[in-house]
Amino acid sequence: MMKARKIMRRLILFSFLIVLIGTLIACRQEQTDPRESIPTEMTIDERVAWWIDNLTIEEKAGQMIQAERSTNNGITGATPQDVKNYNLGSVLNGGGNRPSPNNVTGWQTMANIFRQASLQSSSGIPIIYGVDAVHGHNNLLNATIFPHNIGLAAANNPDLMFAIGEATAYEMAQTGMHLNFSPSIGIIQDKRWGRVYETLGEDPSVAMNLIDPYVTGLQSYNMAATAKHFIGDGYATFGTGIDGMLDRGNAVISQDDLYNFHLPKYEAAIQAGVKSIMISYSSLNNVRMHQYRMIIQTTLKQEMGFKGFVISDYEATNDVAGSNFEQKIITTVNAGIDMLMEPNRFAETYHAIIAGYNKGFISIDRINDAVSRILTVKYEIGLFDDLDLPSEDLRNENSLSIARQAVRESLVLLKNDQALPLQKSENLLVIGPGSHDIGIQSGGWTITWQGSPGKITEGTTILEGIQQQTTGQVYTSLADLDKVDKVILVLAERPAAEWFGDSPDLSLNGRTAYQENIDLLVALSAIDKPLIVIMVTGKPLLLTDYIDHIDALVMAFLPGTEGAGVADVLFSDFDFKGKLPYTYPRFLSQAADTMLKPNYNPDDYLYPFGYGLRYNNS
Ligand code: BGC
Ligand code: BGC
Repeated sequence: MMKARKIMRRLILFSFLIVLIGTLIACRQEQTDPRESIPTEMTIDERVAWWIDNLTIEEKAGQMIQAERSTNNGITGATPQDVKNYNLGSVLNGGGNRPSPNNVTGWQTMANIFRQASLQSSSGIPIIYGVDAVHGHNNLLNATIFPHNIGLAAANNPDLMFAIGEATAYEMAQTGMHLNFSPSIGIIQDKRWGRVYETLGEDPSVAMNLIDPYVTGLQSYNMAATAKHFIGDGYATFGTGIDGMLDRGNAVISQDDLYNFHLPKYEAAIQAGVKSIMISYSSLNNVRMHQYRMIIQTTLKQEMGFKGFVISDYEATNDVAGSNFEQKIITTVNAGIDMLMEPNRFAETYHAIIAGYNKGFISIDRINDAVSRILTVKYEIGLFDDLDLPSEDLRNENSLSIARQAVRESLVLLKNDQALPLQKSENLLVIGPGSHDIGIQSGGWTITWQGSPGKITEGTTILEGIQQQTTGQVYTSLADLDKVDKVILVLAERPAAEWFGDSPDLSLNGRTAYQENIDLLVALSAIDKPLIVIMVTGKPLLLTDYIDHIDALVMAFLPGTEGAGVADVLFSDFDFKGKLPYTYPRFLSQAADTMLKPNYNPDDYLYPFGYGLRYNNS
């Protein structure tokens, strides 16, 4: 009897234990996929609110961080395991960070590994994967590389802008990317800046014309675009930046100019629905933008009503006030930055946010604001759904023809003493550092961060475009000079990005250019054959000393991979359309003059803003 009762009690206890273990396993499963507890009929706002109620402070801190994808060649970055462990909200591939093999499959595999890692984190919230696709999906081999923005400002064609944005988004979508650190919508002042080519020129009204279609196009295919760099990035004063030059320096901007010329561009981007805004490395009136709470939290978010997320620039926290990293992170978060681009120090950032919260320096409201914005964007672009990537379709006819059209429309004819158009029967010498080089004509942010000369990706050089379209002989050596009717000299800048591209003197053979530019220009100025000069440069390098020897002058900026667009116009199958997007200085002392300057006198410059000839000037 006693024995039977004992067995009975053991049985009950045993079944109780089984039930308990079962329940625990069930709960555990629920924990690994918390999304399933969100009622399906909820709106995005309700879902986001649900997360805010249910995420731990650690999970929230993780969402606020963007780390770089770790590579085996130099970038410490984050591994998929880190993404899982820290609940990281985002991963980026910075300039030149590309998987091996560098093709659509390689990118898809990489993106998927990181996405799966995020889905296995304690929150299960998917990452948003970011990349700089600033003139096409430029880290990807064989992507279509469009002209850099400065050429698109010369073209000033809103429909074209939309088409370029959409084609870029399409190639990004193929590779599983969802966040593009583009468009750069800054306007410039000093032409010595290394990032001139990334901007829309010096006239805010050109920028205003292009921002809406560009943002809209870039946000096709569930992409999030990023308007950058907020604010005044192109207005830094020479001497205040890195190495005593310009990039990341201090911009002096009056309150009037800020409200009349600079902020409206961001209003236009917000109107267009831009999902993210990146803060500038530069300072505004001596305050580092990354700590400028009044402009970010008050002006941008409250007054201008920006609802997307604000992202910091690459390791920009380093430059803000604070005696240690934790303090700097606290300052940056409190300034209103929602996502911290901390490529390598993501773990420290994570602990700094948590410590800042625990010590009472960062409020829960600020954290919830940041996380809500990030999650809202993630819902809006469908990251919580099963992703269905378009299959590989690079170098398709549509994208290539948009790029070629963009090249044609971006060309600006500055001078023409009957040297152009070319006849298809003429014999030509085509020479110069930019004449036959995909890397040079594409510039910085192509395959690598800085870009590089050489056949770094698929495309058509300017020389090849001419060869394809002529019946005459095309020579490429000075030794053949006597055989030709006309000379086409393609002067160029070296590919460069950010401060590496700052040029203290804008000279043709200076820090950012080639000695060969001057050597060839001098040699060819002495001959009496029509000399056509094409500039493959982001900046207006000084030409004043040589201009009288040049019969025709064309600004081609950085046209990208579809160089045949240049020949289309040289042979007059199409007319020139582009207008100079900045003032072309006659002297170095005019480098920072713009059309916004009071008493701007067009006659003072080699070519004024907006200048551009056509074959048919009627
Ligand atoms: C640049 C940004 C870029 C970021 C990520 C920074 O150095 O200033 O324009 O989006 O790196 O590559
Ligand atoms: C990255 C770029 C980034 C730069 C900032 C580079 O290592 O590749 O994406 O813009 O650092 O300094």
